[in-house]
Amino acid sequence: MAIRRSIIRGTGHYLPERVVENSHFEETLETSDAWIRDRTGIERRHIAAEGQTTSDLAIRAARAALDNAGMTADQIDAIVVATTTPDLTFPAVATMVQAGLGMQRGFAYDVQAVCAGFVFALSNADGLIRTGQADRVLVIGAETYSRIMDWTDRGTCVLFGDGAGAVVLEAVDQPGTTDDRGILSSDLNSDGRYRDILYVDGGVGTTGTAGCLRMQGNLVFRHAVEKLAKTAHTALDKAGLTPADVDWLVPHQANMRIITATAQKMQLPMDKVVLTVADHGNTSAASIPLALSVANDEGRFKEGDLIVTEAIGGGLSWGSVILRW
Ligand code: UT7
Repeated sequence: MAIRRSIIRGTGHYLPERVVENSHFEETLETSDAWIRDRTGIERRHIAAEGQTTSDLAIRAARAALDNAGMTADQIDAIVVATTTPDLTFPAVATMVQAGLGMQRGFAYDVQAVCAGFVFALSNADGLIRTGQADRVLVIGAETYSRIMDWTDRGTCVLFGDGAGAVVLEAVDQPGTTDDRGILSSDLNSDGRYRDILYVDGGVGTTGTAGCLRMQGNLVFRHAVEKLAKTAHTALDKAGLTPADVDWLVPHQANMRIITATAQKMQLPMDKVVLTVADHGNTSAASIPLALSVANDEGRFKEGDLIVTEAIGGGLSWGSVILRW
């Protein structure tokens, strides 16, 4: 029986011009390039210029994705932006992207699931397509985490970076088998009991300020190692597939040790894992679409390749999306 599936037609990304190397932090903090590389795999990150906002990055990534898809903005029915660092409390960054692209139709909204945001947004956009509410959806992950860093906290500020990635999803009828192209399944989870191990200490209803990111890194690390392989397995199972079918793992790029542990649990060799953590750091909801776009630009994905994406972040929220290129 034919099934309406969401196929990725194009990818794009944008990284701010300014690159900050690990050695930069040696000047102001008790840290070292060696510690950051060894414990995280991060070597550098991009930081937005003064006045450059999440929507600025998102618009550039969106334009690149539309170009890559060979589409124009007026062909898009909906925009979903995953972000936790919006320009303003409201309106949604997605509406700013809509205006920035010159779109006068369709609908646009943000999804907030922190580092898992892109996985949640992708799954949500797939729902819009499957239920016929949209034929083409721009799904964007865009962040300026530099705006919520405590630059005196060596346990967090060396980890994060700014950037944006975008994909264009399009509805295509497929036969309804495990060989179908497009999004095949997703698995989403949250557990608010763990909200205090990764959060921002400000907001509209509390301090009236944006606040700074606070994290008990080692606790988040343990949850990540336990939960990421599990959610990937669950999503694969839902799709009727196994890790042996996987061509590419495109993980959230938080820490090289978490990525390696997840790949090991899935028995995937590292040459099947897309890695951008060294050059981008942790860009939260932007990290997976950035990695997808970089790998696509390098021509790494072939039609029919099975791709697993997975992420975990504040909430805790975590999940996985399985798609065939
Ligand atoms: O994207 C959202 C999800 N976030 C994540 O997935 C992040 C998960 N967590 C991590 O990636 C790791 O836990 C970190 C990279 C944050 C920390 O690595 P760790 O191996 O878990 O270190 P730790 O937090 O257990 O700290 C070990 C030591 C501590 O010193 P003491 O107490 O043993 O003396 C820290 O103070 O490392 C110290 N430390 C640092 N030392 C040098 C923490 N940050 C730094 C630093 N430079 N930048």
